[in-house]
Amino acid sequence: MSVAIITGASSGIGASLARELGRRKWKVGVIARRADLLDSIVAEVRAAGGEAAAATADVTDRAALDAAVAALEAALGPCDLMVANAGSGQPAPMHKVPIDTILSTMRLNFDGAVHSAGAVLPGMLERRRGHVAVVSSVAANRGLPGHGAYSASKAAISTLWEAMRVDLAPHGVRCTTIHPGFVATPLTQKNKFKMPFLLTADQAAGIVADGLERGAKEITFPWQMRWVATLMRWLPIWAWDRMAPKR
Ligand SMILES: NC(=O)c1ccc[n+]([C@@H]2O[C@H](COP(=O)([O-])OP(=O)(O)OC[C@H]3O[C@@H](n4cnc5c(N)ncnc54)[C@H](OP(=O)(O)O)[C@@H]3O)[C@@H](O)[C@H]2O)c1
Repeated sequence: MSVAIITGASSGIGASLARELGRRKWKVGVIARRADLLDSIVAEVRAAGGEAAAATADVTDRAALDAAVAALEAALGPCDLMVANAGSGQPAPMHKVPIDTILSTMRLNFDGAVHSAGAVLPGMLERRRGHVAVVSSVAANRGLPGHGAYSASKAAISTLWEAMRVDLAPHGVRCTTIHPGFVATPLTQKNKFKMPFLLTADQAAGIVADGLERGAKEITFPWQMRWVATLMRWLPIWAWDRMAPKR
């Protein structure tokens, strides 16, 4: 049985992915800050016949995350797949965003994912085998009005993963960048606008698990969002400034 470690697995996409990989016979290690929620995910995976363990850590705290990953590897075995999924964002137009919020968004969505990869990469490079995935966002494709800090953090992590993918391939480590569209989770519950092509977290987890198991380099979903992402990326500035969603 292969071992997957998922950060941000106490709710939303991460929790659904933990259950899905557990059903697919992966041993699953779950990390987040809320121990009670992690314990119930572990209990669900075990009740369905799978193997799972939990460790708490704030992903922005590198030493704490290293310790959590080490504890999970001691319990389950060396990590074959790391899914750096923990992340969040607070929508607000840039003139209302305190600088501290921009920096803390980068610490969670960028530094947190870097710490997650950093915790498993030395072992994977030594074994010349492994897979490191990050949950970015379709918002990485352009600086979304009202979501500038979030877009910037996701663009940064997608760009890093793109370089990592090519650098690490000859060393036996695969990299996958995941770009979800809208998924119904506690993160999007606070959105006041209509979310096009909205998926449930379980649907998202199924798509992500399929992509990871086939070794996809990039997973952008749902399929309609692949077109939206391409359009976002290639629209000229004058057209983007007119068409970008202003909320
Ligand atoms: N939902 C969407 O439409 C959507 C779209 C594109 C991308 N995404 C991305 O998908 C990922 C998961 O989001 P979600 O929608 O499933 O939201 P969610 O339900 O709010 O889940 C976020 C997860 O991250 C964890 N987390 C937050 N801060 C953390 C920290 N400092 N240290 C450790 N864990 C932390 C939370 O657990 P604790 O609070 O217990 O720590 C929780 O398990 C995020 O990276 C998000 O940006 C979501």
